[in-house]
Amino acid sequence: MGNPWFETVAEAQRRAKRRLPRSVYKALIAGSERGLSLADNLRAFGELGFAPHVAGGSAKREQGVRVMGQDISMPVLISPTGVQAVHPDGEIAVARAASARGIAMGLSSFASQPVEAVTATGVPTFFQVYWSGSREVLIGRLERAKAAGAQGIILTLDWSFSHQRDWGSPSIPESIDFKTALKFAPEVALRPQWLLAFAKTGKLPDLGVPNVRPLSEKPPGFFEAYGEWMMTPPPSWEDVAWLRSQWDGPFMLKGICRVDDARRAVDAGVSAISVSNHGGNNLDGTPAAIRALPTVAQAVGGQIEVVLDGGIRRGSDVVKALALGARAVMIGRAYLWGLAANGQAGVENVLDLLRMGIDSTMLATGKADVSEFSQSDLVIAPGFARALGID
Ligand SMILES: Cc1cc2nc3c(=O)[nH]c(=O)nc-3n(C[C@H](O)[C@H](O)[C@H](O)COP(=O)(O)O)c2cc1C
Repeated sequence: MGNPWFETVAEAQRRAKRRLPRSVYKALIAGSERGLSLADNLRAFGELGFAPHVAGGSAKREQGVRVMGQDISMPVLISPTGVQAVHPDGEIAVARAASARGIAMGLSSFASQPVEAVTATGVPTFFQVYWSGSREVLIGRLERAKAAGAQGIILTLDWSFSHQRDWGSPSIPESIDFKTALKFAPEVALRPQWLLAFAKTGKLPDLGVPNVRPLSEKPPGFFEAYGEWMMTPPPSWEDVAWLRSQWDGPFMLKGICRVDDARRAVDAGVSAISVSNHGGNNLDGTPAAIRALPTVAQAVGGQIEVVLDGGIRRGSDVVKALALGARAVMIGRAYLWGLAANGQAGVENVLDLLRMGIDSTMLATGKADVSEFSQSDLVIAPGFARALGID
C-alpha cells in the first residue's frame, strides 16, 4: 500500500471513490435533482479571493474559538451525517479523531453508532434530531442524549424529502442479509479493501438506527425511522420554541438560509444557527450557503452564534466563512472522504489539512487570532452574495 497520508481533501475523495462500493460512494456525493445547490456550494468559494500582505504577520497564531458552549482548538465542527457503510468504525472513528484534534462533533440521529458509545470517546457531542415522531418521542430522544452526556442539540429542519437525483439514487437495502449481500456482490467484489475492513470486524454494515428510540427498545431499521419522519407534520415556529425549551443547554437550528427565518430562530430562543442547504441535498436551486451567510450574520450575529456548513474543502474556505461573519464552520463530506480513505487517521488527516490551511491563510493575511477576519480580507466577486428573506 502507498502512503496513507493525503495532501488534499480532493485526494481523499479520489481514494474514497476507489475504495467504496459504487452505491456507498454515490450516497455520499448525493445532491438532489440537477445538483445545482451541490455545485454552487463549491463554486461560490471560488468567487471569493484574498488580499494578502507580505510583511507584518504574527509569529503566534491562535485558532481556538468557543462555540455551543465548548472551547475548541479550531473553528471547525463535525457536521452530523449518517455514515453507516463507509467504514466499520463509523462515527466512533470520527469521534476519536475529533477528540484527538480538540474539536466537537454533531451526531446524526440516523447514525449507525449509539450516542452512548460516541460520548464515551470523550468528544463533546451535539446530538442532532429531526422533527420526527410525537412530542413524547422527541423528549425521549433528548433525555437519552442528556443521560449519555451530550452537551448540545442540533435541530435540522432543512429536509423536505426531495428524493430525485438526475444521476440516479443508489439503492439502499433495509438491512444487509445474505440475499442483499448477493445482490450487491458484483460492486462489492470490486472494492476488496472496503470489504476486508468490515470482514475484520466479523460484521457486515448494520443499517439499523440505534438513536431514535430509548435504550430499552429495539432500534428500528432505517426505513422504519424514515417513514415515521415522513409521516410527521412539519413543525411550526411554536414547535421549535417548545423543543428548544425542553433542552437546558446549547441548541442549534441547522438549515437556515433566510434572514426572516434567522430572526424567527432568535425569537424561538435558539443559541446558534447553521446557515446551510444540507450540503445541496434538499430543495435544489437553493443558493450556496456561503452566499446567504453575510446578510444572515449581519442580521443576527450579534444575538446568537452563526455557523456555516456546505462546501468546505480547505482551510482557506473556513477563513472565507469566518470573514463573512461565521464563528465556525461544520464539515460533512470532507471528513467522510477522510473516513473512507483511512478511517480515524483519515479524519485526523482532513482536520490537520484544514488547520494548516487556516494557519497559512492567517500568516498571509497578517492575523494573530481567527476572530480578526473581516470582509476587508476578501476580494468578493460582483453579485456574489444572495440576500434571502429580507422584508
Ligand atoms: C451522506 C450525507 C448524510 C447526511 N446526513 C445528515 C444527517 O443525518 N443529519 C443532518 O443534519 N445533516 C446531514 N447531512 C448534511 C450535513 O450535516 C452537512 O449539512 C453537509 O454535508 C455540509 O456540506 P458538505 O458536505 O459540503 O460539507 C448529510 C450530508 C451527507 C453528504
